[in-house]
Order: sequence, then C-alpha cells, then structure tokens
Amino acid sequence: MPPSCGDSLVLGIETSCDETAAAVVRGGREIVSNVVATQEEIHAQFGGIVPEVASRRHAELITVIVAQALDRAGIHWPELDMLAVTRGPGLVGSLLVGVSAAKGYALATGLPLVGVNHIAAHITSSFLLAAGDHERAPLDFPAMALVASGGHSDLALVDGLGRYRLVGFTRDDAPGEALDKAARLLGLGYPGGPAIEREAAQGDPQAVDLPRPDTKQGFEFSFAGLKTALARLVEPAGLEGCGYRVADLAAAFQGAVMDCLVREAIEAATHFRARQIVVAGGVAANLTLREQMTAAARREGLTAYFPPRELCTDNAAMVAAAGHFRAAIHGPDDLSMEVDSALQLPA
Ligand SMILES: Nc1ncnc2c1ncn2[C@@H]1O[C@H](COP(=O)(O)OP(=O)(O)OP(=O)(O)O)[C@@H](O)[C@H]1O
Ligand SMILES: [Mg+2]
Repeated sequence: MPPSCGDSLVLGIETSCDETAAAVVRGGREIVSNVVATQEEIHAQFGGIVPEVASRRHAELITVIVAQALDRAGIHWPELDMLAVTRGPGLVGSLLVGVSAAKGYALATGLPLVGVNHIAAHITSSFLLAAGDHERAPLDFPAMALVASGGHSDLALVDGLGRYRLVGFTRDDAPGEALDKAARLLGLGYPGGPAIEREAAQGDPQAVDLPRPDTKQGFEFSFAGLKTALARLVEPAGLEGCGYRVADLAAAFQGAVMDCLVREAIEAATHFRARQIVVAGGVAANLTLREQMTAAARREGLTAYFPPRELCTDNAAMVAAAGHFRAAIHGPDDLSMEVDSALQLPA
C-alpha cells in the first residue's frame, strides 16, 4: 500500500492478551467499526489471566468477531485494502491465534498483511477519531507518548505516526499490574485498576503515607517497591486489623502510581521538547491520571491527549490504524512474519 493511499480501508485483528478484537479503520484515523469480546469474566474467577484459557477462547471467537467487524462496517472483503494484526508483545499462544487467522485471511483474499507492535497500536489510539465529543491528538510532532497498561510502562518519543523511539520503561512491574496486585491485597477483585478507582473514589489519598519510587535512571519506572510497601501495611494484621480503611489504602495506592506516571512523562516531554503528550493503555482510562496529567502538562504549556476510555484497553481499531501507518513507511510483511512475545519499539 503506497503512503498516498490516504483513505485506505484496513481490517485490524487483536488477540495479544485476553481481548478478541477486530475493527475496520479508514485512512488510519477514522473508526468504521470496532468489535471487542473481552474474556474478563472468565479470568476473573482465577484472579488473573490464564494463558492457555485465553488462547483457546481466541480460537473459538476470532472468525465470529472478524465477521461482525465487517458486518457492522457494511464492508465486504473485496473493498478492503489491507489486513493488520498484532504480532507482539503479548502472550505467545494468544498472538499465534490472531496472526495465524490473519495469514489465512491474507492467503484467501490476496490482501497485503502487516504485523503490528501492540505498544505502537496503543500510542496510535490517541490519534483516532471515535464517536462522541472526544478530542483526538493533532498531528503535531515530536509527541511524548506514555503507554501505561497491564504489561507496560513505556515512554516513547513519537516523531510521526509509525515512527517511535523508546525512551523509558519499567524496571519491574507495569502500573496496571501493580494496580491488579494491590487490588488482590485489598480484596477488591480483578481487573484491579477499575476496582481500585471505584474504591478510591470513597477514600482519602492523604490518609496513608506511601512512597513515590524514583529510579533516578533516565525515565525508568519502578512499581514493585510500592506494592511491597502496601503489603507491609496490610499483611501483618490483615485488612481488618491494619488500622486503615480500604478506601483510603486504594486512594493512596492509586495516587502514588499516578504521581510516578505523571512525574516521568512530564520530565521526558520537557527533556525531549515534545509538542504534546499522548497517554494510552488500560491505565489511561483512570480519571485521576487524566486530571493530574492534564494539569501537569498545562503547567508546562503542553496539552495531554487521551483516547476515549473504551479505546484505552485492548482493541483492534488501534491495530488497524498502526498497521496503516507502519505499511506507509515499511510496506506490508510477507507471510513468513512471526509472532514475537517480547517485541519492543521501534520494531
Ligand atoms: N480505570 C482504570 N484505572 C486504572 N487502571 C485501569 C483502569 N481500567 C483498566 N486498567 C488497567 O489496565 C490494565 C489493562 O490494560 P491493557 O488492556 O492495555 O493491558 P494489556 O493489554 O493487558 O497489557 P499490554 O498492553 O502491556 O500488553 C489492567 O491492568 C487494568 O487493571
Ligand atoms: Mg494492551
């Protein structure tokens, strides 16, 4: 697909974790359809994602979800210009289902296929036009992107859509992972991010003193110590006997995670003279993060953009869009393209 194909229609497929998703996107920025089947309820009973269960469910659903995405878009296969699929990072068994399906569709239809980095896809979600009054990020570069999700805490300098440089990451846990672990400690269930956010709304973040870990190494994050600090407060006497309200613990933990994310993202944005900040990934759905990042960016004369909340967690619209921009620079992949569970930007 040549870069000039501005209005090309791309079918995106996403199966990197526990969402089976397919979407049609026009011109890399306009969502035509977006179907997501989440496995949240299945994994909630185990308190976290069971990889084998996730990949089996993807295999059951993938053709149904792709058919729904085309149907809702009112598009037939011959009208598409390209297929895009997440090839990493993620759970290898889950990735294999999406990539194998996409290769099958490419063989059957003759459509070009592009393999997409899931983190590049999250970054792209801020630039998508979705329904509602959401304001998408303008094409103003360089931008500083923060992807805060279940598996990542990446800072990437965006030189243009499809051009990313990784400038920061986490040394240990990702923020979503830290929130999920904290929610388990606080008996709040899975997924932990939304559960902590709900509980924190009734709490006082100042009522509990938690650290703001700073690695002092470039723009690196570290959240493991924060989780340990929370465990030290609640584990010896148990939740009932620890002397703190669960709502206050949730508010304090959420506040500490968001403070660290805001601090590093703002420092990186000013260091690299970014013209705007885009925040994506499941944790970007968090309203405290949205408010704090927006205010901190404004103090630096910058604007922070967030995707609408439903595009923060995994979806295939962002994959279709990322595939559009990747193919415009690198061209499509051939069918020997493989999954890479540890794929890193800029690949
Ligand atoms: N409102 C919220 N507040 C805070 N965290 C949230 C919220 N909603 C979802 N999350 C967190 O987002 C994470 C899921 O995000 P996402 O789907 O982007 O991650 P992932 O796809 O599992 O990981 P990755 O994208 O790194 O591969 C979970 O850890 C969840 O707790
Ligand atoms: Mg994700």
